[in-house]
Amino acid sequence: GDPGVDDGEREEMEEAAPEGAVRVAVLFGTEYGFSKEIAETLGARLKGTGAYWPAVADMADFPEGYPLNSEQVVLVVCSTQGDGVPPPEARDFCDWLFGGGAGDLSGLHFSVCALGDSSYPHYCQCGKKVDAALGSGTGQRLVPRHDVDREDWTTVNSWIDNILEALPTLSLLTIAEQGGTVPNCGAKKATRARWSKNRPFHAKVLEIKGLCNVTSQGDKNTVCAILDLADSGLEYVPGDALGIYPTNSPKHVEELLSVLRADGGLSVAPPQWHYDGDVFEDEMELREVLLHCCDLRSPKPDLFSLLLDCLPPEMRHTAKVARSAGQGERAKILNGWRKDTSAAFNAHCNGTSTNGLSSAGSDCAVKEALLLKALAEDVKAREAYLEVRHVVDVLEDFPSAKPTVQQVISCLRPLQPRLYSISTSPCECPTQVGITVAEVRYATLGKARIGVASTYVSERLEVGACVPVYVSRNPDFRLPPDVSTPIIMVGPGTGIAPFRAFILQRLRAAHAEGQPQGRCVLYFGCRRRDQDFLYRDALEAWAAQGDITLHTAFSREQSHKVYVQQRLRETGESVWELLEAGAHFYVCGDANSMAGEVERALLDIVKAHSPGGGPRAYLDRLAEEGRYQRDVWF
Ligand code: 2AM
Repeated sequence: GDPGVDDGEREEMEEAAPEGAVRVAVLFGTEYGFSKEIAETLGARLKGTGAYWPAVADMADFPEGYPLNSEQVVLVVCSTQGDGVPPPEARDFCDWLFGGGAGDLSGLHFSVCALGDSSYPHYCQCGKKVDAALGSGTGQRLVPRHDVDREDWTTVNSWIDNILEALPTLSLLTIAEQGGTVPNCGAKKATRARWSKNRPFHAKVLEIKGLCNVTSQGDKNTVCAILDLADSGLEYVPGDALGIYPTNSPKHVEELLSVLRADGGLSVAPPQWHYDGDVFEDEMELREVLLHCCDLRSPKPDLFSLLLDCLPPEMRHTAKVARSAGQGERAKILNGWRKDTSAAFNAHCNGTSTNGLSSAGSDCAVKEALLLKALAEDVKAREAYLEVRHVVDVLEDFPSAKPTVQQVISCLRPLQPRLYSISTSPCECPTQVGITVAEVRYATLGKARIGVASTYVSERLEVGACVPVYVSRNPDFRLPPDVSTPIIMVGPGTGIAPFRAFILQRLRAAHAEGQPQGRCVLYFGCRRRDQDFLYRDALEAWAAQGDITLHTAFSREQSHKVYVQQRLRETGESVWELLEAGAHFYVCGDANSMAGEVERALLDIVKAHSPGGGPRAYLDRLAEEGRYQRDVWF
């Protein structure tokens, strides 16, 4: 059905600004919700002063034409995606702003909180660009930009404190004095796309098809899922991705319920929901909340302070005494833990702490409390600890802490949608969309782990069921406009997905235009041709007809590994010729190693053939011209 008016809008319409309040716009651009959380925290602090009336809004709701220059104060919280780009939903707004769309910003006071991850290149890039764009003319920085590394709340809070300190120094008009010139934050909502990340469409599953011959235990399956977009009006082009909201595995939910010793039928308040598409009741069954709303993998850092607070008082006291015993003791415990497996730690704790704080148990009590304290305070320790543990493991590690279910839920993150490159072309059937999903399975601490979304699609989704989806545009991954332009595609494993769509689209376009298509070269890699050669029949048929040139690398058919980058090097001569003839070069798949190694092969090919200039400069130029495009994931 139609999403209609969401709760946020209703709230906005009902509440009126107190007399004498000054309007402050707070804009956020978010992918995982952290920017939104910060914007709302800032909004609440502003409102709390009684002097300011915050208008908190998603950049997604402000396409072109937002009268930014009629605001007095604009505070922006914005995250950065992979290659330094804005989150998809914030893209239109950012393109418009960076392109000078906001016009003259004289008189505007602004400040930017830029979010990022310092372990990646392009750290906080998007926030930096927003800051530069707002400051390029006559806009005035109220507080210098703050760059926030991952979830560094200390920096966030100091940004907010600085703003609250600086605001009273400005002479600003109250809303009443501004009169009719106050822009309406909600007004743009009417014009925004009907379906989005915040309002997913519930698509019916038409087909789930296995694409691999899974014969032994270690084999991972890959499936193709076809969904019905029906009359949603959702459109996509090859290169786009489909966002899917998964649900957790019921088995994991039951495990968590058992560790919490909670009844799944219990009625609880759901956490703040992460998209407006569904309106949840004030109360939900605990089991449903855990299935649909919560990320059971990676908790908020708050979970550790919560557990610390929920230790029995005697234990906290023991820990306090031990803590004051000094750094050495603490370091010893932490080091011991790093070598420990969770199971060993558990056995130790279970064996000694069951009869309360006996003298044998006090050692363990100290250990639990000290460890919690360290995890609550030290980001690095926490990250290392959580790398191999999920929420249930954390709760198991600290059996003496007895938080309530509701408290634990407040420390969980919302379950996020996952993006999959679309592997169908709308030219096959415009109301259907297909994705290619490889199951994620691995083990940590001796426990079998699964990827939530991939196994949701491959195992738990049934034909006829409905799944919340949205289209995530990918304007940086597009076929060349002219079908006669040659293309080179490198897509091992599920990296083949967008290229299947590319090939179909090109063939259709060439046919429609009565024009021969330019060379179309595909490098595909998998383990074995008889096992995981995805879309084998189609690819081989196209190759046989001369529609594509297919190079394959079967990594496990011989004693040594053969990868796509090796095939690329072997055919370096023709790669170079095609590049010189104007080819576009595409890479899709694993970013951790494959994409880097493919790039090195490409650099070597350029180096071997190009007479002057560095190979890096050559690739940079290709990228600038949109002829080197990547769709890679970590
Ligand atoms: P492997 O699993 O045998 O190592 C799709 O996953 C294919 O990509 C598999 O054949 C896989 O090989 C291969 N692959 C793994 N690491 C790679 C890398 N660094 N570069 C290119 N291909 C890789």
